[in-house]
Amino acid sequence: MNADELKRQAALAAIELLPSGGVIGVGTGSTVNHFIDALAAIKGRFEGAVSSSEASTERMKKLGIPVLDLNATGGLEVYVDGADESNRQLHLIKGGGGALTREKIVAAASKQFICIADESKLVDVLGKFPLPVEVIPMARSYVARELTALGGNPVLRERFVTDNGNVILDVHGLEIMEPMKLETQINQIAGVVTVGLFAHRPADVLILGTADGPRTIEP
Ligand code: A5P
Repeated sequence: MNADELKRQAALAAIELLPSGGVIGVGTGSTVNHFIDALAAIKGRFEGAVSSSEASTERMKKLGIPVLDLNATGGLEVYVDGADESNRQLHLIKGGGGALTREKIVAAASKQFICIADESKLVDVLGKFPLPVEVIPMARSYVARELTALGGNPVLRERFVTDNGNVILDVHGLEIMEPMKLETQINQIAGVVTVGLFAHRPADVLILGTADGPRTIEP
């Protein structure tokens, strides 16, 4: 099975875990795109979705899924999103698609976070995937120096502006032994909007697509 089929398998398994009714938080990325497509087939069963990006909003609207404003919905029961890496504690690296800020907001506002991914995303130590950090444009150089002082090698994501009008520094060369500590340290740098480490608010369940079928991991 190729990676895309494994992503689809994980997405379909998440559909089975959804509560009936209510509003669903929806992430961003190629795995979530499979989830959105499957969600469209059962759209009568829930009120609508809160989206984490312009890309997911557009896809859901095309499929007739009502997209709702988080300020109007209040807290959500469940959020479904992909990841770039997960460790066994379900601390994640996210933001490969650049939607990390809105993803972190929707994850924070949701009772349960179901992460869906192909099996290649599970790692022992986070950091091989460059850690995305969304930064206010005028702070780019300052933040890059601070990230270098923390042991990383930040690289500006070329020709990319986030949905919030900011830039992304992808931090290479990290071996993240203490994800919560690093998330706190990077959050404290002035000019950082969001770091793509989801450790203080990890996933609650990770569904991996594997050659043997979906595998569920809980910390
Ligand atoms: C988007 O900003 C990311 O956080 C995605 O959730 C992550 O990059 C996973 O993407 P894929 O499902 O495309 O691998």
